[in-house]
Amino acid sequence: MERIAERFDKMGIPRINSLIAFDKGDLFERLSLDEDIRPYLPFTRTIRNLSEARRYIRSIGNVYIKARRGRRGMQVMQVTKVKHRGYRYRHSYLGSLVRDRAEHFRDMRIVLRRYFGSRRVIIQEAIDIVKADHNRAVDFRGEVQRNGKGEIEIVAIPIRVGKRNSPISTHGEAYRFEYYLPKLFPHYSEEQIEELKNQIHDFLVKMYNSVEENYGHFGEIGVDFGVDRNGNIRLIEANAQSAKVSIGKAYDSRTVRKIYLNPLLYAKKLAKRRR
Ligand SMILES: Nc1ncnc2c1ncn2[C@@H]1O[C@H](COP(=O)(O)OP(=O)(O)O)[C@@H](O)[C@H]1O
Ligand SMILES: [Mg+2]
Repeated sequence: MERIAERFDKMGIPRINSLIAFDKGDLFERLSLDEDIRPYLPFTRTIRNLSEARRYIRSIGNVYIKARRGRRGMQVMQVTKVKHRGYRYRHSYLGSLVRDRAEHFRDMRIVLRRYFGSRRVIIQEAIDIVKADHNRAVDFRGEVQRNGKGEIEIVAIPIRVGKRNSPISTHGEAYRFEYYLPKLFPHYSEEQIEELKNQIHDFLVKMYNSVEENYGHFGEIGVDFGVDRNGNIRLIEANAQSAKVSIGKAYDSRTVRKIYLNPLLYAKKLAKRRR
């Protein structure tokens, strides 16, 4: 992929997106320098070796460890420190939940080594995200694009609901934002729901601007984020290549059409500007 893109660059073909994929560690490092975005960031660090993980797991208590370049929840493990009883860990393997315990960090370390190999990883504080019934993880995917006029447009924000007890929302169901948000916060008034929606929209636009300031222009960005019990918005990651799976699961054909059409219209605009 990278090589094809470089080839196209040499030929002078403009890109819709400046990057093919974000490095999760690099993304959080850069965004943490942006005061607009910092309040939305869970504690995130790149670690150089697994021994360093021990310190963070013990001080934070409940973390996600992820490959800097993972996708589709395949390189994500949740690790929890249990008082006086070692560590618990969970990950998803081909859609099934794997969970177990490790008595000591040396055992945990073997598990991590086996799972991540020599990949570079980040450690991130687990967001205390709102859950659906039966301990199902819930997160959001903001699909933000530039349309044919080059304007930023929030096309859809599918809410993803994971499988029972799974640490990730991937492989579960997806629902329309407008329909499902009030179900997640049943104790909220209509005004409070509206307020939360506005905050989410603000956050997505700020994210888009900040990513562009740091990496160059984009035609589309998929923003994964969580909302905690107190209604705080927390960034999980940004995607430069969005599979749009959840859009297909949750939205009507008009939205599906739009999400595929926008990048083409935007590409056309870029091509015109060049001539
Ligand atoms: N810090 C976190 N707190 C809570 N859940 C998380 C956290 N990080 C990841 N997850 C869950 O794991 C899923 C996959 O993580 P993500 O960082 O998006 O990696 P991937 O590149 O594999 O999509 C997320 O969609 C979310 O459900
Ligand atoms: Mg993701």
